[in-house]
Amino acid sequence: MKGVFPIEKFKKTDTPFYYYDTDLLRETLNTINKEAGKYENFCVHYAIKANANPKILNIICQAGLGADCVSGGEILASLNAGFPSNKIVFAGVGKNDKEIKLGLEKNIFCFNVESIPELEVINCLAENSGKVASVALRINPDVGAHTHANITTGLAENKFGIAMSDMENVIARISHMKNVRFMGLHFHIGSQILDMGDFVALCNRINEIQVKLEAHHINVEMINVGGGLGIDYQHPNRVSIPDFKSYFETYAKHLKLRKGQSLHFELGRSVVGQCGSLITKVLYVKEGTAKKFVIVDAGMTDLIRPALYHAYHKIENISNDGCINTYDVVGPICESSDVFAKSIDLDECHRNDIIAIRSAGAYGEIMASQYNCRSLPIGYIKEDIL
Ligand code: LLP
Repeated sequence: MKGVFPIEKFKKTDTPFYYYDTDLLRETLNTINKEAGKYENFCVHYAIKANANPKILNIICQAGLGADCVSGGEILASLNAGFPSNKIVFAGVGKNDKEIKLGLEKNIFCFNVESIPELEVINCLAENSGKVASVALRINPDVGAHTHANITTGLAENKFGIAMSDMENVIARISHMKNVRFMGLHFHIGSQILDMGDFVALCNRINEIQVKLEAHHINVEMINVGGGLGIDYQHPNRVSIPDFKSYFETYAKHLKLRKGQSLHFELGRSVVGQCGSLITKVLYVKEGTAKKFVIVDAGMTDLIRPALYHAYHKIENISNDGCINTYDVVGPICESSDVFAKSIDLDECHRNDIIAIRSAGAYGEIMASQYNCRSLPIGYIKEDIL
């Protein structure tokens, strides 16, 4: 089955562009609110890094989610979209002074801190501005995730977080700092995780950590488990809403929260991944000696995931229901890695046919570049096109 697209409108719109099915986005957000809402103290933030299109952010903000930011730019994008500052968390290994000052000035909910030098800088800048910054420590739980090596983050070898063995020392140091307040713990083990067992492993690790901290009489108000829930790239139509029920159930069942603790999530891909498609046109169909190439007008500058991670995105010729042919679908960029898919079956392609590259709502538009002096792709929501 192909996705339902306003094909006649697409024909009149300059390609390439991102198209966001806002009905699906709203349905996804309703499901998140319904499933997370079953548990007291579950707070869901949206990871802005997945897609910061202002219209998308606005819809997510209206659904009541908080914002997980990793730069000053993302903090500003969230505030502009209407996210209240007391629902903004700020993470990242390399926050610069300007970004920290912005977070302090806007009174954000929490800084997720990744090192002692960073804590010291936050303490100093908070003192200068007469504030007390709430901080959570990002702990590296040394839990692997069954996902692409480039997007696993919770192993000891990764650059992220503070080692478990340093945790109590760092918390003790915070207690001597006047302008930071310890709120809780932050974790994130990776992205595109489909095996709930990985999240169970994280829960088990957090349970161990909590017992350890209790022995030191350390009070943890908040636990943030990051994001990571994956989507079904193979079947964007059949499984368009990820399994949030199992995801939240897993945490409710395996994580032993203490009385009064809140549990925070930072979901990116699972919120926006399936609602977005990259829409592109066939420029040429080229018969190579060994292969047939469909050369489209979108390239790795518009969607870098296949070139960067060999990521699979389902590709459909939405103009045609013809006989099937086998093609390599490639872009116009002067790089051999500018390939969206190799040897895939597609309805026969002709010049000007419209192609949808599916499940591109997350880490698509936001990772676009202007390499080869290309324009950045425009992102349209359904309402813009109809
Ligand atoms: N929280 C933290 C601390 C993160 O580093 C990330 C993603 C998230 C939350 C959101 O994770 P999600 O729910 O989206 O899995 N560009 C890559 C993905 C990089 C993910 C980086 N961190 C891709 O295209 O697959």
